[in-house]
Amino acid sequence: MHNFENFLLNHLPTSKSIHPTYEEAVQKMLLAGGKRFRPALLLGVVNAYNPLLIGGAYHAAYAIELLHTYSLIHDDLPIMDNSPLRRGEPTLHVLFDEVTAILAGDALNTYSFEILSDAPFSDSTRVALIRELAVNGGLNGMVLGQAIDCYFENRPLSIEDVRVLHTNKTAKLIAASLKMGAIIVGQEELADALYDFGIKLGLLFQIQDDILDVTQSSHEAGKLTNNDESKNSFVTLLGLDEALQEADELAQILAKEMSGFDEKLKNELSSLLTHYINRHKQT
Ligand code: IPE
Ligand code: IPE
Ligand code: MG
Ligand code: MG
Ligand code: MG
Repeated sequence: MHNFENFLLNHLPTSKSIHPTYEEAVQKMLLAGGKRFRPALLLGVVNAYNPLLIGGAYHAAYAIELLHTYSLIHDDLPIMDNSPLRRGEPTLHVLFDEVTAILAGDALNTYSFEILSDAPFSDSTRVALIRELAVNGGLNGMVLGQAIDCYFENRPLSIEDVRVLHTNKTAKLIAASLKMGAIIVGQEELADALYDFGIKLGLLFQIQDDILDVTQSSHEAGKLTNNDESKNSFVTLLGLDEALQEADELAQILAKEMSGFDEKLKNELSSLLTHYINRHKQT
């Protein structure tokens, strides 16, 4: 991921204007770090099948990270989850103001598609990638998930509906990360299989996130924890023990599916996936 970080630093959103803090605000949360889980998934798939395309793939990996980072900035706004801490840093609305945080998020959202449109691939591959990110990150993907998440605060949903919520707000972007890797290397069948795997992986990722909300301190998580009481989280609805059990079951299914990946893909992704599939067991 070292080269990905270099790519990010070389393609930071920049602006020269009379605005005293805009440029710092749009860069701040990208520079704060984060796990870079989604880029690692995409780059792992590309490395497995055609490492020669990795330079171009950084555009797509970065585009996903940009869109994800925008989603976090908006997620933390007082009107949404109201969090003062993200990636170990004060959130943008705390550091600057709400207007700046909203607009920095907007800028990262559109910059994501600008970066993707510059990817050095055929027009048809680029359009397919742009479409995948838009479909999973927007109207019927992450944004829908966030809308349901916020609307149903203090209105308990069925566990089936929470699965739908988590699939939209988190799993689709994670599934798209794997699928976009497969699109880059021209593996159509694999793209669909990895998307299905990614939906399950993303659901697990959000269940684990719900678990970590009650098991980690804000300092450990680098973001405000114990903040999900009014949310339809797996822990709020099922309790910690049952949420852990649910995570274990999904982890087992994913580990089994992963063992069926072809050797190239296993070599590239198994240590990353094993780490994330088991991350709820660390506490
Ligand atoms: C946090 O995502 C929001 C969720 C979808 C659970 P990450 O846990 O990937 O956050 P960063 O990118 O590491 O900060
Ligand atoms: C947010 O889920 C998912 C996004 C689409 C940003 P959470 O609200 O649980 O994410 P955290 O816990 O604040 O990172
Ligand atoms: Mg949220
Ligand atoms: Mg949140
Ligand atoms: Mg959370």
